[in-house]
Amino acid sequence: MDFDEVIDRRGTHCVKWDMMAPLYGLSPDDGLAMWVADMDFRPPPCVQAALEGVVAHGVYGYFGDDTPFRDAIRWWMQTRHGWTLERDHIFTTHGLVHGTAMCIDTFTAPGDGVVLMTPVYHAFARLIAASGRRVVECPLPVHGGRHVIDIAAMDAAMTGTERMLILCSPHNPGGRVWTRTELRTVADFCRRHDLILVSDEIHNDLVYPGQTHTPMAVAAPDVADRLLMLTATTKTFNIAGAHTGNVIIADPALRARFAQRMAAQGISPNAFGMHMATAALSPEGAAWVDALMVYLDGNRRLFDAGIAAIPGLRSMPLEATYLAWVDFAGTGMTTPEFIARVEKGARIATNYGTSFGAGGETALRFNLATPRSRIAEAVQRLQVAFADLQ
Ligand SMILES: Cc1ncc(COP(=O)(O)O)c(C=O)c1O
Repeated sequence: MDFDEVIDRRGTHCVKWDMMAPLYGLSPDDGLAMWVADMDFRPPPCVQAALEGVVAHGVYGYFGDDTPFRDAIRWWMQTRHGWTLERDHIFTTHGLVHGTAMCIDTFTAPGDGVVLMTPVYHAFARLIAASGRRVVECPLPVHGGRHVIDIAAMDAAMTGTERMLILCSPHNPGGRVWTRTELRTVADFCRRHDLILVSDEIHNDLVYPGQTHTPMAVAAPDVADRLLMLTATTKTFNIAGAHTGNVIIADPALRARFAQRMAAQGISPNAFGMHMATAALSPEGAAWVDALMVYLDGNRRLFDAGIAAIPGLRSMPLEATYLAWVDFAGTGMTTPEFIARVEKGARIATNYGTSFGAGGETALRFNLATPRSRIAEAVQRLQVAFADLQ
């Protein structure tokens, strides 16, 4: 596990490095790709070996019998997250953007409101709007430098036409690991307003030492009758290209409706994703994640210290995820001004805060899942780009 190794991803059809020139005007030879949420690391050897076994065999037919896959998920959730779940509660979708789209499609109708706690992962709003539903933004206040939940403000924003809330837990961006109390608050809110609760827990394993993620199904088992749990191996093990995710539904009535929509859409799993995910959810995979989080912890410390040295910039202390949320409000610059400094000055591609909804206007998201030498380089470039503030 050499996370320091710099692996050249240029010319491999990866979005993060190969789309930087067309989208940001930054050459991959000189620019630093700190946008798209995948890592510049290889997955654990057990995942690589599983795929090599498939390639060595060389016949790429339909996948059958996903029992080992379901059992691997059950083992992982039990041992890593204290969550007991049943085999037949698990659906496999083509990733969790797809899983979220399926949830919106199955459990809401055009015109319905879908509640988001913003700023939040940008694809949620895109899916809601594209499917003719309405985005209902409930901004997360920042207290003590981190996002918190203002449930009274959320209550006040409801009109009775909302049908669903999509929670991101842990939260992207900003990296909050919601406490059991906060999760309970959200669960009670959904019950009060009769909302289906989608809990996207794709970042559940990317939690820093000292933090504990609690699955919503564990924090609030009494809302099982409205709960859709979304999990995946793709962020944890850096296999996003496998496009394999899970929607886990304990309630039989909700499960029947979801199964019907899955059948109607003709969805069956991608064999490569199944092989990779099954191999990942293992003791060897677990040891790799533990080592990864120690490494990412070093990256976030280096990054945060570098950002703290630039007056006017503030990085939210991450409890989970490798996605640093940096606020530029203190610089007094307009959004185009600070973006120009980061892109043209520091030659770094980031995600724009505005794409995450209300509350993201003065922020940029930086992906820290890259060898530490690149973090050091990014920090040094940012300090030069904002040198006049120091
Ligand atoms: C909260 C959240 N959900 C879903 C995804 C993407 O999921 P997938 O690649 O499985 O479609 C991301 C990617 O960054 C994410 O942050």
